[in-house]
Amino acid sequence: MVAAPSTPPPVVEVNNLRIRYGKEVALQLDELSVVPNEIFGIIGPAGSGRTSFLKAVNRMDLFDRSMDVEGSIRFRGRDVRTWKNVYSLRRRIGVVFPLPVGLPLSVYDNVALAPRLSGVRAKSELNDIVERCLRRAALWDEVKDRLSSLGSLLSGGQQQRLTIARGLSQDPDLLMLDEFSIAVDPVTTMRIEDVLKELKQELTIILVTNLVQQARRLADRTAFFLGGRCIEIGATDAIFSGEVKDRRTTDYILGRFG
Ligand SMILES: Nc1ncnc2c1ncn2[C@@H]1O[C@H](COP(=O)(O)OP(=O)(O)OP(=O)(O)O)[C@@H](O)[C@H]1O
Ligand SMILES: [Mg+2]
Repeated sequence: MVAAPSTPPPVVEVNNLRIRYGKEVALQLDELSVVPNEIFGIIGPAGSGRTSFLKAVNRMDLFDRSMDVEGSIRFRGRDVRTWKNVYSLRRRIGVVFPLPVGLPLSVYDNVALAPRLSGVRAKSELNDIVERCLRRAALWDEVKDRLSSLGSLLSGGQQQRLTIARGLSQDPDLLMLDEFSIAVDPVTTMRIEDVLKELKQELTIILVTNLVQQARRLADRTAFFLGGRCIEIGATDAIFSGEVKDRRTTDYILGRFG
C-alpha cells in the first residue's frame, strides 16, 4: 500500500469561532488554518475583525473582560484554552503591534528580558540570543554599538525592528504582525518585508495588513475579512489575478471601498 502524501499539520486551526464584545459579534469564522512556513495575510477594512482574531489566538481575551471567545482555536494541535498556562503558549507566539511598544529598557534588555524571565542566566547565552535576534530583525549593524542605550531613543523604524527582535527572543513557532508598518517609513517597511521573507524559512507568520499590496508582495495565502466575516481565503496569486469566489474581494483589492 502506498502511503498518502502527508501534509504537515496546521500551526493554527480554527473551527466555528465566534468573538463577541458584549452582544456585538466582532468575528464569525467557520474554518481557517495556517500551515507551517507560510505567510498568511489577512486584509480587510477597519473594524473587520482582524485584530480580534490575533487577540483570540494569543488569548488576550484573558485580559479583556468584555471579549468573549467561543469555538475552537488550535495551536500546534492543541486548543489554546487547554494549554497548561498562557505563558507557555505565548512563548511560542511572537506578536508585533502597529506601533512599536518599546519597554523602558536598554536595547539589549528589550530582547533579553523574556529569555531571562524564562530562566536563561548565563551572560554568554543571553549575548548570543540578543545578537541572533537583532540580526534576524535586520537591526544588529545599526545598534551593536549602543546596546546599553534606551530602546526608546531609536528611530521609529528601528524601534519596530526591535519589537520584532523581542518577538523572536523566545524562538517562537508563530509570529503575528498587526499592521506593523503603520508608523514606519517606506524604506524601513521594505527592509522589514525582506526580514519576513527570510523568517518564513524558520517559522510561520500571520500578517494583518491594511496595505493590500503588502499582502500581495508577502503572503502565500490571503484571507479577506469584511464586517466580521471571512469572505475569502485563497492563494495570493489567484486572488490578485481575479480568481475569487466573491466579487467584494476584488472590489476591495482594487480600492473600490474600504
Ligand atoms: N475592546 C473592544 N470592545 C468593544 N468592541 C471592540 C473591542 N475591540 C474591537 N471591537 C469591535 O470589534 C470589531 C472588530 O474590531 P477589530 O479591532 O478586530 O478590527 P480590525 O479589522 O483589526 O480593524 P482596525 O483596522 O480598526 O484595526 C469592531 O466593530 C470593533 O469596534
Ligand atoms: Mg486592527
